[in-house]
Amino acid sequence: MSKINAAITCVHGVVPKKILSNKDLEKMVDTNDEWITTRTGIKERRIVEDGETLSDLGSEVVKSICKKRGISPLEIDMIIVGTVTADHRFPSTSNIVCDKSGATNAWGFDLSAACSGFIYTLVTGQQFVESGRYKKVIILGGDIMSSIVNYKDRNTCVIFGDGCAGVLLEPDKEGNGIIDSILKVDGSGRELLIQKHGGSAFPITKENVGHPDNFIFQEGRSVFKFAVTKMADVSAEIMERNNLTGEDVDWLVPHQANLRIIDATANRMGLTKDKVMINIEKYGNTTSGTIPLCLWEWEKKLKKGDNIVLAAFGGGFTWGSVYLKWAY
Ligand code: UT7
Repeated sequence: MSKINAAITCVHGVVPKKILSNKDLEKMVDTNDEWITTRTGIKERRIVEDGETLSDLGSEVVKSICKKRGISPLEIDMIIVGTVTADHRFPSTSNIVCDKSGATNAWGFDLSAACSGFIYTLVTGQQFVESGRYKKVIILGGDIMSSIVNYKDRNTCVIFGDGCAGVLLEPDKEGNGIIDSILKVDGSGRELLIQKHGGSAFPITKENVGHPDNFIFQEGRSVFKFAVTKMADVSAEIMERNNLTGEDVDWLVPHQANLRIIDATANRMGLTKDKVMINIEKYGNTTSGTIPLCLWEWEKKLKKGDNIVLAAFGGGFTWGSVYLKWAY
């Protein structure tokens, strides 16, 4: 019997309607469109309206995936959500998405790996499909970063946005799907990109309400140095391990944190710009959402058998790459 691979068979994304542009941010903090564009590549990002939640976006993604694939939500076995901005500490957003989307035969859980959330979640879902026991697993990557961003801190508020996207994983016996992955952590970098308060180590109390540590903190320059080398290294490593040259790779799908990091990774891989998915200018850094949002926007251009490398770097530190062959 030929090996079962876990293959992406459908993709969809949902972003909030409300746009927060660089011009809007100029009125909120001491920044300007020129700085944001040249230092990051971002022009605008999407922000949820009051009351709009990650599970709202996620359940829309699940319903649309089922509609596009021509299946009922009742056929979904599992939903795994990569996020650091779940609706609640518990129950899991996966749990709520199963309910809101009508995927009531599914089980699932949330997975926290910051900006590497989607690739970590994808590789986790892969194991369930490859085991042969699960046939339809939805992997969501999404974050409502506006819920943890301090809109008085120009170091972070210009970077992040909200959005959610996901893929359906199904068994494939034609040799397409996820071929290889490399996932890494280095917890010694945890203080450089962190939402310090709000967990059990530092609960939010009436004494610390409004404290900057209740929001996301990033030591941008230090994180940049790690991100730019680690994301390029891990992408080169997965190519080498699978005997791929720049010519063989059809698409790089990089985490959208900074255009300069994306360019460095593509250069290291020997890729021309037309093979790199970039939408950072529209959505900013949606943390777990960036990679599936790219796949969704490029879906029509993808061909069966395309060699695709996903690469991410995020808080933790977490990073990694995935090599897959597009299956449809
Ligand atoms: O997604 C997960 C992983 N995260 C990343 O990969 C992000 C990695 N880091 C970055 O992308 C970049 O470090 C940032 C975009 C966050 C910052 O860019 P940078 O080129 O590293 O800027 P910097 O922090 O070194 O700051 C340069 C200058 C500073 O002024 P001085 O000290 O040179 O006078 C900052 O105060 O730019 C200033 N600055 C700003 N100016 C205008 C910082 N933020 C802003 C701003 N507008 N929003």
